[in-house]
Amino acid sequence: MSKKTGMRRNLTRYGDEDFALYLRKAFIKAMGYSDDALSRPVIGIADTYSDFNACHANVPKIVEAVKRGVMLAGGLPMTFPTISLHESFSFPTSMYLRNLMSMDTEEMMHALPMDACVMIGGCDKTVPAQLMAAASADIPAIQVVTGPMLSGTHGEERIGACTDCRRFWGQYRAGKIDDAEISRVEGRLVPSAGTCGVMGTASTMACMTEAMGMMLPGGAAIPTVHADRLRHAEAAGARAMQLASEDLRPSKILTPESIANGLRMLLAVGGSTNGVVHTAAIAGRLGIEIDMEAFDRMGEETPVLVDLNPSGKYYMDDLHKAGGTAAILRELKPLLNLDCMTVTGRTLGEEIDNLPPAFPQDVVRTMKDPVHSGGGIAFLKGNLAGDGAIIKQSACSKELLVHSGRAVVFDTLEDLAERIDDPDLDVNADDILILRNAGPKGAPGMPEAGYIPIPKKLAAAGVKDMVRISDCRMSGTAFGTIVLHATPEAAVGGPLALVQSGDTVRLDVPNRLLQLEVSDDELARRRERWSPPEGAPLHGYAKLFNEHVLQADEGADFDFLVKKPYTTKTP
Ligand code: FES
Repeated sequence: MSKKTGMRRNLTRYGDEDFALYLRKAFIKAMGYSDDALSRPVIGIADTYSDFNACHANVPKIVEAVKRGVMLAGGLPMTFPTISLHESFSFPTSMYLRNLMSMDTEEMMHALPMDACVMIGGCDKTVPAQLMAAASADIPAIQVVTGPMLSGTHGEERIGACTDCRRFWGQYRAGKIDDAEISRVEGRLVPSAGTCGVMGTASTMACMTEAMGMMLPGGAAIPTVHADRLRHAEAAGARAMQLASEDLRPSKILTPESIANGLRMLLAVGGSTNGVVHTAAIAGRLGIEIDMEAFDRMGEETPVLVDLNPSGKYYMDDLHKAGGTAAILRELKPLLNLDCMTVTGRTLGEEIDNLPPAFPQDVVRTMKDPVHSGGGIAFLKGNLAGDGAIIKQSACSKELLVHSGRAVVFDTLEDLAERIDDPDLDVNADDILILRNAGPKGAPGMPEAGYIPIPKKLAAAGVKDMVRISDCRMSGTAFGTIVLHATPEAAVGGPLALVQSGDTVRLDVPNRLLQLEVSDDELARRRERWSPPEGAPLHGYAKLFNEHVLQADEGADFDFLVKKPYTTKTP
């Protein structure tokens, strides 16, 4: 690693470093910088503003605040753009592009002369991509999020993206609300800029990032429109200057112990199942494997403390008013690894000791009076789970946690879209809906299609939940008895590929079992007949993705980006 700082870092290779610096300065001076400015430490700011990304609508204001912080601390802030991903504006799915964003960010960190980097993310895949990049590039880095949107109202109801998006859509499909009302709802679900206002993936990742020590304290829950959001950004800019001089890098912060703290936070907030995949990807960049059985055990002793949608009733702006992550960390303290270093230069334990005093509130509950006790995300085994599958227990219907039913299989996303609402579809409320070929390679990109809609005729008859199983993901804002991430996926010959409609499937969450009640001999016969789905010839990024994407248990990262063999496990 070069000891050179500021403009002298990462000089373009002309074979003459003095010439490279001279030329660099000649060009950058065209932007009006003085010699004094160009002699300062450089803090890069990853700017993820995009007209397509409402979750990042406040990025320009945040950039301005970060720059102020850097300059007040005597540095030179310089923004650089990267890909910006929004969930609803990413075909075929944002997950398909997460690794590309991480590569984009990492390579800019390598290519540009920056002594530290402030990464501004927010929408679901952006923070994981940036943390993956920071872990790989290993230059001093600090995460800032755009912050959650405000909650809104529809009639007398409080609403917010996107748990309520799905709830209202379910009512519309069931014929309970009409075109005019769903149109009114569409205009009210997202009342401000910012990330989804529930404990979806964006909020989960924000809280986890704080627990892992990569964000200044208090940054996860400040709503996007609050003045505190900008003060937080200013402080991050100033702190980035110190990170640079202390050379405090992600590899000193993202350790097995701090990642375990992140996983602990994931469970305590009743967070998104996507948090598991993203954590595996971030950890994988550091040679750390996620031990899913240990994570399952961690779930047994970590109650859901935060009463937020979709597992509870409040919204992110309520969590902020209740003290934000401080209230959670204070409660979780006995279960956390307190010696972990954070971007503040102090340990997590020191930060918790510095928290402001608690006050009465009911959004973050106590360990003695949790929202759900133990068992947040369960890790399932069995002949239908292969190397594992997961289910978010707090989002399940209790009566379906142990359930046997007849499989109704959809081969692809297209097949699902074509047949799910067919009045002649042979399906009953007790059946188990299975979607396959929707994993990392199959879909591709492992889309959030695991929230398979209840067939219209059953929804109209009042069915609200069914057991659903797939090799894809589910939005963190969704709910239901939904088994996800069956690994390996069907497209590479995982067990879901062998199920036939009419087979009996058994889900037994207390015993962590996902079983296909078909004999081993019959499964072996089916396997002999199986062949991988055929697709059109691929080129460019699609080819790279198809050839290198890993399965969900390895974070669906690219094999050439993961630090393997793994050297350690967590939690
Ligand atoms: Fe961006 Fe939900 S769509 S956080």
